[in-house]
Amino acid sequence: MKRILKWIFRIVLVLFILALLFVFIAYWRSTNECDQLTAAQGDKMKAIVYCDYGLANLKLADIAKPTPTDDQILVKVRAASVNPLDWHFIEGTPKIMRALGVGLRKPKDTRLGVDFAGTVETVGKNVTQFKPGDEVFGGRDGAFAEYVCPRADRAVTLKPANITFEQAASVNIAGITALQALRDKGKVQPGQKVLINGASGGVGTFAVQIAKLFGADVTGVCSTRNLEMVRSLGADHLIDYTKEDFTKGEQRYDVILDNVPNHSLSECRRILNPTGKYVMIGGGGPNDNRWVGPFGRLIQTLVVSPFVSQKMGMMMAELKKSDLAILGDMMQSGKVKPVIDRTYKLSELPDAIRYLEEGHARGKVIISVE
Ligand SMILES: NC(=O)c1ccc[n+]([C@@H]2O[C@H](COP(=O)([O-])OP(=O)(O)OC[C@H]3O[C@@H](n4cnc5c(N)ncnc54)[C@H](OP(=O)(O)O)[C@@H]3O)[C@@H](O)[C@H]2O)c1
Repeated sequence: MKRILKWIFRIVLVLFILALLFVFIAYWRSTNECDQLTAAQGDKMKAIVYCDYGLANLKLADIAKPTPTDDQILVKVRAASVNPLDWHFIEGTPKIMRALGVGLRKPKDTRLGVDFAGTVETVGKNVTQFKPGDEVFGGRDGAFAEYVCPRADRAVTLKPANITFEQAASVNIAGITALQALRDKGKVQPGQKVLINGASGGVGTFAVQIAKLFGADVTGVCSTRNLEMVRSLGADHLIDYTKEDFTKGEQRYDVILDNVPNHSLSECRRILNPTGKYVMIGGGGPNDNRWVGPFGRLIQTLVVSPFVSQKMGMMMAELKKSDLAILGDMMQSGKVKPVIDRTYKLSELPDAIRYLEEGHARGKVIISVE
């Protein structure tokens, strides 16, 4: 028995050393194509690139202007918007992301940004839905640049004429997240009571308006300075989180949409109806758990969920053309209006990210790419 235990210990030790060696080699082999990107010849454009993790490593560089494939369109970007997702990539946090393919030592993809709005310059030969001159908005990696090439059949659609490029650029991630959280996860029905924690941020400002459009009775949680703004978006009730803890009240809700998971799951469950739904959207701010971010809480919801009558879970937005079109219609009809906080120039992206990182943006932060 002693000998068997000894051998098991030796095997475990060897496996552990091999795993460490593997991680060490993978870490030092982790690289990117930053040098090739900036050394490219031919037509150039300005774009934000980062060769290493960290806000200090962002630079505005001249890189090759993209050429659309047969299924893509070339869009001249007029505006882009910043999301917490961008600083997750810039900082490489939560660090578990690095092991999951984002790049262990250096970012694999050296381009940043997703949300854009702009004008179609040329279209690939298979594209029939767009033509040069069309004004569009959507999502495509590398949107902090003068040009992007989204596939015509992916997350890009026509911009309503009644909104600006800045407003259109604010929609993609935040608007789609709010829509899918309320419609697909929350399954919000007219008359239901919906609480939105973090009602004044990028996702929250869309969520308040869309929940009202779905006929819900909406409670927005925000700080004192944002009460009037959230009320003007249609919220029926307001809770000032600097004065009141929304989990301590008597009101019960059918859906909680949580952009700021700063209360325990049991506290949130207390104010949910027995068949209510808790939809976790956000989590993992810059100073929160830098190793696993929101994944710890995600595991908590998965563990708790089977044992309670309420539905609990996290949602990950899926960038869909059809949902962009729905949001486009909502804006065209004036039922949803993007809320813009500040606008920065492309060269000022680090300032925009720093501002977003503070966690108190009012609506969306925009990058003007003129
Ligand atoms: N799951 C997904 O697919 C998905 C998609 C998009 C975003 N997200 C995540 O969702 C979260 C929200 O995104 P966002 O774009 O809306 O971020 P954001 O624009 O940076 O949100 C900032 C807002 O949060 C509010 N806030 C800060 N502390 C608060 C508190 N204690 N209680 C209530 N509100 C508070 C701030 O209001 P005050 O100024 O009044 O404090 C501010 O208006 C982020 O964690 C993001 O990573 C997830």
